[in-house]
Formats: sequence, structure tokens, C-alpha cells
Amino acid sequence: MNVLITGGAGFIGSTVADLLISKGYTVIIVDNFSTGKREYVHPKAKLYEIDVCDRTSLMTVFRQEKPNIVYHLAAQINVAHSILDPTSDAQSNIMGTIYVMECSTKYGVKKVIYSSSAAVYGDVAQLPIAEDQVKQPQSFYGLSKALPEDYLAMYAKFFPIDYTVLRYANAYGIRQDPMGEGGVISIFLSKILQEETIVIHGDGEQTRDFVYVKDIARANLAALDKASKKIINISSNTSTSIKQLATMMTSIAAKPSLPITYIESRQGDIVHSRLDNKQAQYHLSWEPSYTLQAGLGETIRYYLEQN
Ligand SMILES: NC(=O)c1ccc[n+]([C@@H]2O[C@H](COP(=O)([O-])OP(=O)(O)OC[C@H]3O[C@@H](n4cnc5c(N)ncnc54)[C@H](O)[C@@H]3O)[C@@H](O)[C@H]2O)c1
Repeated sequence: MNVLITGGAGFIGSTVADLLISKGYTVIIVDNFSTGKREYVHPKAKLYEIDVCDRTSLMTVFRQEKPNIVYHLAAQINVAHSILDPTSDAQSNIMGTIYVMECSTKYGVKKVIYSSSAAVYGDVAQLPIAEDQVKQPQSFYGLSKALPEDYLAMYAKFFPIDYTVLRYANAYGIRQDPMGEGGVISIFLSKILQEETIVIHGDGEQTRDFVYVKDIARANLAALDKASKKIINISSNTSTSIKQLATMMTSIAAKPSLPITYIESRQGDIVHSRLDNKQAQYHLSWEPSYTLQAGLGETIRYYLEQN
């Protein structure tokens, strides 16, 4: 089976690609390397270095490769950038998805699996957040991840194509760029590796729901033939405060005396976020296999060995 992955040179996309290749799928990657890295591309994957907004080139790839399944992960993922430049954010995330759907419907793709985000929910008081929560994004990025979900549903209404939307909580793990969305773990990690002070915005009591990248990849594999036309949260459904996180990380790295300082909180930061994952258990038979302790352990050990 031919599987095309957009953003397959990125943090999550390359992990999805590795898993699919290990299961025997033929993987085609489309990536413009805006944040992706060549060394993340699996040697068995066929690579096309193009932008998903380059409609003509994208059509050519679909015509040549005739993918059966498409995983759409390519996106501009930086929230701050989306506020500085909403146009380019919308171009990549909204128009990029429409081009992917256009090619997919034209060349007979069976199913598109779209990587969405907890950012579509915005600041919700009632936790954990279930998938039927009204979307109230708080940034252009949240908006540009939310709107394509509706495009997928609309395409499935007018064309014979299936889809699943996976809304990830805060992803973490090996290959995460400290500049990206939910990058707090990779930011703390780079401080730990350089033995520098860890800086926390606010009082550190804000909480997040962290999900390990390998668990996200497993959810993508499960969605290949399950959860038809469904929106599914992919999360740990547990809350960890940023303060707790910093302490866990310094202790796993055996650097418990590394200083931690607190500075003013960032405007617009969500205070608490936790996603319900019952739908993932029900429709994908998926639940996280890594605890935060285990996922952090694997990630930190990997980077300590590289250092
Ligand atoms: N990292 C998280 O915590 C998180 C949380 C929720 C959702 N997501 C979603 O998961 C997906 C993957 O995110 P990630 O963290 O791996 O980010 P990433 O930046 O590592 O990966 C994105 C990949 O897409 C490529 N890309 C970007 N724009 C492109 C374009 N226009 N054409 C072709 N390729 C393009 C980049 O080069 C990169 O390889 C994104 O859709 C993101 O919105 C991520």
C-alpha cells in the first residue's frame, strides 16, 4: 500500500514514516524543509522536496505515486509566527490542506488522516476537553488548524473520500524542535544539556497534557483503517504542571541542582489544558503506552548519549 506523508521530514511526520516503513508500507514524503530535516527522512522513503502550496508539483506527485492513504502533517506550527504573519500561516495550513484534498480526491486517495491540534479548542474551563467542545481558537494558528477540519468533512460530503482528524495534545519526544508548538520539553532539554538555568513563564502551576511522539505515531497507524469520518483527541488525559515537569526532567537527567527561575507569564498562554481520550480508546483501540516518566526518560537518555 502506498502512503503519502506531507511534513514527513518533521518531528511527528518522520516518526509516523518510520513506524509505517517498519510495518512494510511504501512511504512517499512531501516536505519543503521549512522546519524538517533531511536526516529525519527514512532512507526507504521516496522524497519529494516541494511545498504543499505548489499545486502543479503536488498534482504531479499524486499522479505519479497514486497514494492510497495520505497523512497530512505539513503545517506552519509556530503560534507566534501565526500572529505576526497570519497570511503565510493561512497559506500553508488552510490552502495547503485544500490543495492536498484537491489532489487526493482527483487521484482516488481512499483516506486522508489530518494532524490537528488542541489549539483548536482555545482556553476551556471544563477539563478534560472532549471532541464535541465548541472550537474557540485563540490564535491564527488555532484557526488555521481548525478550519481544515471542516474542509475535510466537506470534501467527504461531495467526493468519495474518507478522513480522520487527530487532535494532538502537547507532543514531545526525540527530534522535537525547541522553537515549535508545545516545545516546552525540548526547550527545557536544551537548557539541561547546556547546563543553563531553566526559565519558567508565570508561577509554573499552569498544566499541560503531554503525549509521546511514538504514541502519536501509533495513533496514526491505527487511524489507517479505523475512525472513519471521526475527530479524535490524542492525549494522555493527565495534567502535569510546568514546575513538576522541570523537576522531573532535571532529576531524570541527574542534574537536580540546575537552577530554575520564574519570569512574567506570556500573554495569551492557556492556563490548563487536558484532552479526554475516551474516543481514541473506543474508535482506534488506542491509549498511550508511555507514561511521561518513560517518554522523558527515553528522550533525555537519547540526547545525553548524543551530547
Ligand atoms: N508538536 C506538537 O506539539 C503538535 C501538537 C498538535 C498538533 N501538531 C501538528 O502536527 C503536525 C506536525 O507538527 P510537528 O510538531 O512535527 O512540526 P514540524 O515543524 O517538525 O513538522 C512540520 C513539517 O512540515 C513541513 N512543512 C511545513 N510547511 C510545509 C509546506 N507548506 N509544504 C511542505 N512541507 C511543509 C516542515 O518542513 C516540517 O518537516 C502539524 O500539522 C502540527 O500542526 C503538532
